[in-house]
Parts: sequence; structure tokens; C-alpha cells
Amino acid sequence: MAELNLILLGPPGAGKGTQAMRLRDDFDLPYIATGDLLRDHKKRDTELGRQAANYMDEGKLVPDELVIEMILDKIEREGDDGFLLDGFPRTIDQADALADALAARGRRLTAALLIDVPDEELVHRISGRRISRTGRTYHVDYDPPRREGVDDEDGSPLIQRDDDKPETVRKRLETYHDQTEPLVEYYDERNLLRTFDGTKSPNEVHDHIRATLATLRLEERL
Ligand code: AP5
Repeated sequence: MAELNLILLGPPGAGKGTQAMRLRDDFDLPYIATGDLLRDHKKRDTELGRQAANYMDEGKLVPDELVIEMILDKIEREGDDGFLLDGFPRTIDQADALADALAARGRRLTAALLIDVPDEELVHRISGRRISRTGRTYHVDYDPPRREGVDDEDGSPLIQRDDDKPETVRKRLETYHDQTEPLVEYYDERNLLRTFDGTKSPNEVHDHIRATLATLRLEERL
């Protein structure tokens, strides 16, 4: 089976986590989400978590030197047969570090999946987001749980993320446009970019990505 080495790109709230949960199940890929890993470090109050906390709470990026090692190590341990990265890379330096690490092992990225959504829509999406203990994402209007405030899978209470306050969301959007959006051109130049209209419903976006990945996997095998 041809290996799929994928990254999800897009602004905060575009639906990367929502799609990742579905794609992980479809293609049986290890899902590595930088934001989730950092929030876990914060919760466990590790040295890395303490260093990352201030940046995250202000909507800024955590410095490359803290993030790159954490992710490359995770890929090394879990991503031997392919991976789905969410939230990494987020800077050109992170993208170069990933490409170098893969090349050193005779591997390469299969595609960068960009989920595209205009800024006006994102603030509304993020303020309605609720998350379960296991990382499943809901939206109070667009993708509500069966019972209000409670996870469909295990019945635990849903929570709202610390950095989902409107003023932090605006800062995160600014950071995205300044530091992460240049990656769109970076991957386009390398012929790795695949763009999806993230204003469609979660199921429609999912169908579109899944069809593209099925084709890519066929091409990889030829
Ligand atoms: P991170 O956790 O990666 O956050 P993000 O990129 O800002 O993305 P989000 O998780 O907010 O959005 P999403 O696209 O996953 O949307 P979701 O699917 O939930 O990063 C957090 C912080 O960590 C950063 O700010 C930074 O400080 C730090 N960090 C992380 N990675 C880093 C790195 N590499 N370098 C440095 N620092 C780093 O969807 C949003 C809502 O919309 C949900 O409620 C969902 O139900 C709903 N929704 C989803 N799809 C649709 C749809 N199609 N239609 C309608 N509603 C939808």
C-alpha cells in the first residue's frame, strides 16, 4: 500500500481537526496535532508546556525550536507508514525542517491539504466550538452533539478552549496570515498543494478530500 504523508493547512477554525478525525479513520493514519500536543503539555505542567503557555494564550506561535523537535520525534516514533499532521508546519523554517527530516529517510510529503475559509466565517465557527475529552470537535449550531453539552461517544461534558475568546481568535488569524499563509505558495511551488472549499458542510469537505486522497494513492502506486 502506497504511504500517505499528509499535512493539513488552513486558518484557525477552518475545520482541520474536524476533517482529521474523519480522515484518520478512513485511511488508518496516525494523527499528530501540534495544538493538542502543546495543550497536553500545558495541562501536565511540563517545562515545554510552561514555555508554550504564554505564546498560546496570546495567539502567537510557539518558537520553532520548541515545536520542531517535538513533532519530528513524534513522526519518528509513530509515522513510519504514513501520517496526518495538523498544525505543523506553520512557518517556512518548520516546513524546511520537515522536508529535510523526510528526505534523510528517503521519504517525501504526499500532499498539503489546504482548507480554505474566509476570515468572517472563522470567528463565528471558533466561538461556537466545543471539544470532548477525547478531542472530538463539535459546533453548537453546525455540528451539534446529540445531547447538548455532552460528548456523543462517552457522555463526558464538552469544554471550550482557552484561546477561543474573540480577541485571541483575531490575534491567531493575524498570526496565520503573517506567518503560516506563505506556506500556501511554498507547497504550490512544489506541486504538493490541494485546495478544498471549507465553507461547504463538514461531510461535503470530507467527501472531496477523501476522493482526492484516493486518487493520490492510486497515482503513488503507479
Ligand atoms: P491549533 O490547536 O493547531 O489551532 P488552530 O490551527 O488555530 O486550529 P483550530 O484547532 O482552532 O481549528 P481547526 O481548523 O482544527 O478547526 P475545527 O475543526 O476545530 O493551535 C493552537 C495554538 O498552538 C496556536 O495558536 C499556537 O500558539 C500553538 N501552535 C500549534 N502548532 C504550532 C506550530 N506548528 N508552531 C508554533 N506554534 C504552534 O473547526 C472549528 C469549528 O468549526 C468547530 O466547532 C467545528 O465543529 C466547526 N466546523 C468545522 N468544519 C465546518 C464546516 N465545514 N462547516 C461549518 N462548521 C464547521
